Amino acid sequence: MSQTRIAVIVGSLRKDSFNRKLALAIAHLAPSDFNFEHLRIDDLPLYNQDDDGNQAPAVKRLKSEIAASQGLLFVTPEYNRSLPGVLKNAIDNASRPYGQSAWAGKPAGVIGVSVGAIGTAVAQQHLRNVLAYLDVPTLGQPEAFFQNKEGLFDDKGHIAEGGTKKFLQTWVGKYVAWIKSHA
Ligand SMILES: Cc1cc2nc3c(=O)[nH]c(=O)nc-3n(C[C@H](O)[C@H](O)[C@H](O)COP(=O)(O)O)c2cc1C
Repeated sequence: MSQTRIAVIVGSLRKDSFNRKLALAIAHLAPSDFNFEHLRIDDLPLYNQDDDGNQAPAVKRLKSEIAASQGLLFVTPEYNRSLPGVLKNAIDNASRPYGQSAWAGKPAGVIGVSVGAIGTAVAQQHLRNVLAYLDVPTLGQPEAFFQNKEGLFDDKGHIAEGGTKKFLQTWVGKYVAWIKSHA
């Protein structure tokens, strides 16, 4: 069976990130022919257009990992009603030099968990705006906004059994179909 490689970009660098747990839970619910690879973004330089002709090894690595993938999964918290700077920095780095963006045409899903009641809705909307400009076709429905409440994750860090897990399974099914439809 041929494998579908998904590049996972988590918008939090935090060791115990709930978004990283959510990304792992998604991989757990996906079919076995989907491989999820977490891309490192914490060692990227702050984007500087002066470096476009001589990109850092970490930027080249990020771009080649994206190029080798058939799909993208963005799992991000909301920071001050937008996407975290580390995520935007990764997106900017891999989008340049002009005309050599690594993102173009790669189908994506956007999802996230935050403490606020509207669970990353605004961050996701801002991220969708950026991805639209970068020609990244993004799954529109179902939208998935998770509020991190006691009991969302179990002791092992998995999404607890129940309605939320069922909803996430539905989301993963739609996401997988979305990626396959762009193969
Ligand atoms: C700088 C900063 C800004 C934040 N802004 C928001 C926000 O706008 N909306 C929200 O729901 N939570 C906000 N939070 C709380 C995050 O949702 C919470 O820290 C979350 O656990 C971060 O995700 P992580 O567990 O993957 O690191 C903010 C947290 C930080 C550190």
